[in-house]
Amino acid sequence: MAGTAPAPMILLLLTAAFFIQAQTKLQSSGESFTSVEISQKGLNFVKDLLVTKAISSIIPLELAPIKKSMKIPFLGGVQMVLSNITIHGIDVGSSSYVKPGDTGIAIVASGITCSLTMNWRYSYSTWLFPIYVSDEGSASIQVEGMEVGLTLGLEIQEGTLKLSLLDCGCLVKEISINLDGGASWLYQGLIDAFEEEIESAVENGITKKLKEGTLKLDSFLQALPKEIPLDDNGSLNVTLVNVPLLSNSSIGFDINGLFTSSRNAPVPRYTEKNSQSLSACEDPPKMLGISLDEAVFNSASALYFNVLRKCGKSYNICFYTKFMTSICAF
Ligand SMILES: *[C@@H]1O[C@H](CO)[C@@H](O)[C@H](O)[C@H]1NC(C)=O
Ligand SMILES: *[C@@H]1O[C@H](CO)[C@@H](O)[C@H](O)[C@H]1NC(C)=O
Ligand SMILES: *[C@@H]1O[C@H](CO)[C@@H](O)[C@H](O)[C@H]1NC(C)=O
Ligand SMILES: *[C@@H]1O[C@H](CO)[C@@H](O)[C@H](O)[C@H]1NC(C)=O
Repeated sequence: MAGTAPAPMILLLLTAAFFIQAQTKLQSSGESFTSVEISQKGLNFVKDLLVTKAISSIIPLELAPIKKSMKIPFLGGVQMVLSNITIHGIDVGSSSYVKPGDTGIAIVASGITCSLTMNWRYSYSTWLFPIYVSDEGSASIQVEGMEVGLTLGLEIQEGTLKLSLLDCGCLVKEISINLDGGASWLYQGLIDAFEEEIESAVENGITKKLKEGTLKLDSFLQALPKEIPLDDNGSLNVTLVNVPLLSNSSIGFDINGLFTSSRNAPVPRYTEKNSQSLSACEDPPKMLGISLDEAVFNSASALYFNVLRKCGKSYNICFYTKFMTSICAF
């Protein structure tokens, strides 16, 4: 049935698990007949999803080897190499937040711990030991209190959402290194001298991954369809219009939101906006607010007249109620 087709498709559009909130205060202009507002609760949900996804895609992360020569009394010049430095596990904990601002949205995660392993090797030759002396082993590293922050710029470009990385940073507060094997009593001191380098290797490695991740997310968003086919006859125009509305606790998007005919059947054009917007799911607080212009129902009724006719006279309200009930129930 055509009447049951639209709702599940629209649910897909709403990226699952969001709920609807009474929302009439959204304003839009131009060819926008539907406004969607992601509340702080929705943003937190997206953030948790992103953070979990981002972290699982980062590890295992291998960092560039670090070489260092040092002067040790009586021993002379010692060459030390740390290699195969790999981040195995990252624990974000619960102290992360997302905050919309004037220019974009900031995502900050603090109190991150991460565990690494590496191989270490040293070699030296002195007047005391003219022969080349070397030793090697492995070490485990624990990074504590790491903080990661990024600011994403949001823009609408040709009907899709464009993300840009405005700012990105990673800061390591504390690091502890434990050597396994070798004369660790001697070399623990040497390793400690590498702390700073390891810290910046972790910081740079994660920052680089975040940049890559943002690019990937951006191309994913760019590739999202501007129309969602509902059945053989119709599709929903989800082209983004206007600029995103950023407040300190929500992000609003305007989409075209009209149903269009996939066949050549004429569908009336709606350019007049009716100020009357309808909303449902009165139970606050929800993750998502949506407000639909009456033109949305008119465009739906043009396409799905036969189905909507069964609703009787007030098909707008009937369709709307069915539509909203499906989404609210989800
Ligand atoms: C599409 O439109 C045709 C002609 O109006 C109709 O026969 C057909 O049942 C419609 N298909 C769906 C899936 O509604
Ligand atoms: C979809 O909406 C956009 C923005 O309002 C509009 O430019 C485009 O022509 C619409 N597409 C169709 C097929 O109506
Ligand atoms: C590098 O580290 C990984 C993970 O600890 C380990 O499986 C691998 O064998 C190491 N490679 C070398 C050359 O030591
Ligand atoms: C958001 O901004 C409004 C005024 O613009 C202010 O009253 C409110 O306290 C702010 N909320 C937060 C969480 O900063």
